Amino acid sequence: MKYGYFDDAQREYVITRPDTPLPWINYLGSEEYFALISNTAGGYSFYKDARLRRISRYRYNNAPFDLGGRYLYLRDNDEGHYWSPSWQPTQTELQDYSCRHGMGYTIIGSTYNGIRAETRYFVPLGENLEIWQLSITNQRNTSTDLSVFSAVEFCLWDAADDSTNFQRNFNTGQVEVEDGVIYHKTEYRERRDHFAYFACSEKLSGFDTQREAFLGPYRSWDRPIVLEQGQSTNSIAYGWQPIGSHCIRLSLKPGENKQIIFLLGYFENPKAQKFDPPGSQTINKRGVKPVIAKYLNKTDADKAFESLKSYWDQLLGVLQVQTPDEHVNRMVNIWNAYQCMVTFNMSRSASLYESGIGRGLGFRDSNQDLLGFVQMVPERARQRILDLASTQLPSGGAYHQYQPMTKRGNNDIGSNFNDDPHWLVLAVAAYIRETSDWNILDELVPYDNRPESRMPLYEHLQRSIQYTLDRMGPHGLPLIGRADWNDCLNLNCFSDTPGESFQTTTTGSGNVAESVFIAGLFVMSTLEMAQIAERYSKPGFESRSSTFYKKLANDMTTTIYQHGWDGEWFLRAYDALGQKVGSAECEEGKIYIEPQGFCVLAGVGLENGYAKKALDSANKQLATKHGIVVLQPAYSRYYLNLGEISSYPEGYKENASVFCHNNPWVMIAEVKVGNADRALDYYLRINPSAREEAAEIHRCEPYVYAQTIAGRDAPTHGEAKNSWLTGAAAWNYVTITQWILGIRPTWDGLQIAPVIPAHWPGFTASRIFRGVTYQITVKRTGPGNNVNLIVDGKAADGNIIAVPKDGRKTITVEALLK
Ligand code: GLC
Ligand code: GLC
Repeated sequence: MKYGYFDDAQREYVITRPDTPLPWINYLGSEEYFALISNTAGGYSFYKDARLRRISRYRYNNAPFDLGGRYLYLRDNDEGHYWSPSWQPTQTELQDYSCRHGMGYTIIGSTYNGIRAETRYFVPLGENLEIWQLSITNQRNTSTDLSVFSAVEFCLWDAADDSTNFQRNFNTGQVEVEDGVIYHKTEYRERRDHFAYFACSEKLSGFDTQREAFLGPYRSWDRPIVLEQGQSTNSIAYGWQPIGSHCIRLSLKPGENKQIIFLLGYFENPKAQKFDPPGSQTINKRGVKPVIAKYLNKTDADKAFESLKSYWDQLLGVLQVQTPDEHVNRMVNIWNAYQCMVTFNMSRSASLYESGIGRGLGFRDSNQDLLGFVQMVPERARQRILDLASTQLPSGGAYHQYQPMTKRGNNDIGSNFNDDPHWLVLAVAAYIRETSDWNILDELVPYDNRPESRMPLYEHLQRSIQYTLDRMGPHGLPLIGRADWNDCLNLNCFSDTPGESFQTTTTGSGNVAESVFIAGLFVMSTLEMAQIAERYSKPGFESRSSTFYKKLANDMTTTIYQHGWDGEWFLRAYDALGQKVGSAECEEGKIYIEPQGFCVLAGVGLENGYAKKALDSANKQLATKHGIVVLQPAYSRYYLNLGEISSYPEGYKENASVFCHNNPWVMIAEVKVGNADRALDYYLRINPSAREEAAEIHRCEPYVYAQTIAGRDAPTHGEAKNSWLTGAAAWNYVTITQWILGIRPTWDGLQIAPVIPAHWPGFTASRIFRGVTYQITVKRTGPGNNVNLIVDGKAADGNIIAVPKDGRKTITVEALLK
């Protein structure tokens, strides 16, 4: 069953009924002001940090799930009844409801009783505000007397404090209302120099700023007393729950249309000029007024919307493909790239599953996210790399997370997730391949943000490798520390106290438990270092040779063959007692996905047949029609020696769900062994668009990846959870574009090496790489995937096309597969 459809030409997903299985959301904003918006106008907004500068309030775990948002109500003053044109919160039955989620904007429209209302929500580039552009048309053949009410509930800034510290918060709320603009100024009197505002383009017939005055006691957003009575109360909030609500009275003739603009924004004043007049307690509004005036103007608002569209045209224009599969096309050309940008902006902070108060930016996560967006915003990727590297520790290890506002490592979680440093190597390699900006390696970057410790970024990478060399276990495999990629495989934890963190509790020495996954990752990152070392040297700086790194990769590969191979697949780990994890010998959890994918993608087992064997085992034991599960058999009870992984019921999260993040590793591995059909098949099993038909099972948005899909052991097999902010975005994007379609940035140029199914006749693509547009046509001339390239009409050697030295800005490439 479907709840909408893709409108690829507009780059929109159009939801055609409001009661989607879960709220289906979109994101607004791409710089400092961000907002989440659901298909029924729910969600919230914040400036930079979802915890510390929350602008509007939202309650997680609510019933209904999605309540609170950017609400508009229309009231028919002749009849006395009212409704929400976005369905929520009144849930009045509407005609022609639609929600169009697009690139950085959402348009929600409906008709009720001959009144058409459509609202476009977006954040203009370069501004800290959101625009709600409402268009109302009277389609009746009589004149209508209408009132429009807006409503937004302010958050008292620190979202964690806002939802806990009520004895204080019920007293601090303050607002000002001037010229119809509602200013939320809680704590402005003391240490804050910033405020929020809610403005409207029309003359008001009233307003409210105290929630209880608007809703009435014992009422919720679905039946505010003010709507019942038809008149705002002009309430001023003192403490309690400040809100913003405008009331506009309209009389519309038959066929008449009216446009109204609302602005919800954030503004900071210079500390010394907070008040106007100085010495008063009144907000200085000189700075904000011109901004408000500008965007309340329809021409400027429309212009800002056009600029936003061109911005996305440009970002998505970096790679566009036309393949025989519509799900591939739409995810590559639109939604997967878009999701990669959202994960860049949000990391794991704010979604309907991440509360915005929990987590900072993950070191591991952010480095991997970069693989998916570096081609769209290389300068911002560069900065992200330098920020991440600045939190690295002198040992080469890394804080597991850092806080985006301070860019400091997070002490509560600390370090010792032993895979972390290697992701930095992969991210830097991806960045240089895309941009050829080798200078980044010379950048002086501190350790642990201590300026006196600055070293070239290259040395940070060397220390990433050294970190593992200093932490080898009894079998010569890397020690796992608190966890590796699988945060929930906690082999040094042994926690039997409820509520204790599995990630930070460590008992014992940590000198025994080893990870085969990190071994595979180590092979990958040392091979990257070998390639970097071949091409980069800095006079007077001690750097290890390419040969050194190659030897490390070789030696680790040998160790994996000796101690990391179980006979039919790669082992997962050794626990703190030296027992195997992910072995046929185990009672449960006999086989895990991570080492099968990652070892092979690093090249381990390609030479001796282990790779194919491991992938066949994964296919037999782990693959389901909804994707490849993390492990089998699922853990049916809690294992003290394994940690959080066995805390989840069977089929959920790390305990044998489909993790959409690591499925791509297996897809790339299948590409490496030349198994095109299987790679694409796995890809399509979790491709959100391909799962749209089964939306009632999948339940999450059909346009973005979710972190997990319930595994075969779960009663809800196929149900997705935790959509949007997941490493699944970057890895699926990398897999389909660079490995299956095979359009791959390399150190020396753009490589064209598709591994596509035999039944695909070919495809076309346009890729902007280092400023040059490559127009690529792939044609199948035989059943295999060997490539012959014809570049600008001439047969070329190999499959890598260097950027032309003669300044040509477009290259035509024909790739013949046979
Ligand atoms: C979550 C974490 C990620 C981890 C994964 C597997 O997605 O953000 O860092 O690798 O879970 O545990
Ligand atoms: C929980 C989640 C896991 C995540 C970890 C770190 O353990 O299950 O996916 O990576 O928290 O926040």
